[in-house]
Amino acid sequence: STTLTTLEYLHNTAIAVSASTGKIIAIEPECDLHKAKTILVPKLGWDSGPTSVEILSTQKDYQFFFPGFIDTHLHASQYPNVGIFGNSTLLDWLNTYTFPLEASLSDISKAKRVYSRVIKKTLSHGTTTAAYYATIDVTATNLLAELCLERGQRALIGRVCMDQLGPEYYLDESPEESLSKTKECVDFIREKKQDLVRPVITPRFAPACSFDLLKKLGDLAKETDLPIQTHISENKNEILLVKELFPMEKTGAKDDSYASVYDAAGLLTEKMILAHGVHLTEFEADLIAERKSKVSHCPCSNSAITSGAAKVRWLLGKGIVVGLGTDMSGGYSPSVLEAARHAVLVSRHVAMGGDDEVAKLSVEEVLYLGTKGGAGVVGLEGTVGGFEVGMEWDAQLIGLGRVEDGGEEEEGEDGGNVDVFGWESWQEKIAKWVYNGDDRNTKKVWVRGRLVHERK
Ligand code: GUN
Ligand code: FE
Repeated sequence: STTLTTLEYLHNTAIAVSASTGKIIAIEPECDLHKAKTILVPKLGWDSGPTSVEILSTQKDYQFFFPGFIDTHLHASQYPNVGIFGNSTLLDWLNTYTFPLEASLSDISKAKRVYSRVIKKTLSHGTTTAAYYATIDVTATNLLAELCLERGQRALIGRVCMDQLGPEYYLDESPEESLSKTKECVDFIREKKQDLVRPVITPRFAPACSFDLLKKLGDLAKETDLPIQTHISENKNEILLVKELFPMEKTGAKDDSYASVYDAAGLLTEKMILAHGVHLTEFEADLIAERKSKVSHCPCSNSAITSGAAKVRWLLGKGIVVGLGTDMSGGYSPSVLEAARHAVLVSRHVAMGGDDEVAKLSVEEVLYLGTKGGAGVVGLEGTVGGFEVGMEWDAQLIGLGRVEDGGEEEEGEDGGNVDVFGWESWQEKIAKWVYNGDDRNTKKVWVRGRLVHERK
């Protein structure tokens, strides 16, 4: 994506990636395999011998490289519950399905099984960067960070902070305990001396935190300059609960809006990732824009647990940086591609509800949100999310299904649900992928130049 609305097609183009840094160091247009070997490689001063330079190519017409997806909001701990939500809405969903599962991951062998699978699964769907919520458990949260590093997935890792609202068996005992356990996880990751996996301060959401805890986490964010993630204005009963729990006398805010609670605690910074934002008021959206906080749009989740339809065009119009989140398992799928098509459909509902054609998002726009937009949300603007010199090679090789004359698919190829007949334009092929694609189309995935997934 070059802009929100423009997808650039680099036909017959070679991209040179340094294996040591994982960075894109040259982009050469009009470059076939022969030219790559005989001109580009020597020009870069590389030895073109078979062991020092690896040359990958796409199958013309039905394969392409695409930037890796950025999932700006998901709960690694909730993966075993994907698809299990019945007719619940946020607050009863948390109590019925979510808290019991999260609490059970204090069993480290269970956490290892779940987290290993989540990383494998999201990588197989092309998620090269994930902003994860773990659980309140320190050891299991640190394990998630370690596994991401081992498997090579770029990630933000958040230990969940909550000192109220949850069941007795799943709560931090005090704001102090919540803070010190958060610091333990931050230190654990920082001691690894790398920047692929980063810590993120994670107050679950206002109703699950005392104001004292929110303020302590706001102070920690200020001291450490770390990113922060939380939920905001997802569900109408949740908003009523926030008004009840955080009267202005308690927060010192000038109004009783949800966004003002975070602002009063010092949490509404430019490093804040706010998930959902379905029912934000004009005042709140303006405040979020002013503070340069980011929004993670989670359309699959917002439909699944009946939260509502977020007005993405309206948020973008205010200059707010927006990315996509699967919000697994509020959302039932670990796939950002699935979130992208839900973003398209939800935007149609917003358009129909408000009789406003402008609200509709295009294929190009949701792909931007899933890549470059997401990079801006998680603080990686200019590092990932596109193919530009200086950016890191976080990428996926996508393969579509080529239908042969007899109506069969090309031998040995699995295009999943995406059939290409050969007469489609590239724009049409991309649209077919967005609406019908899945992990069968994600053939290979790289993070920082390292191959982290290959479909067998
Ligand atoms: N609000 C507080 N916790 C959660 C959660 O785990 N998922 C979602 N979707 N919303 C929340
Ligand atoms: Fe969530």
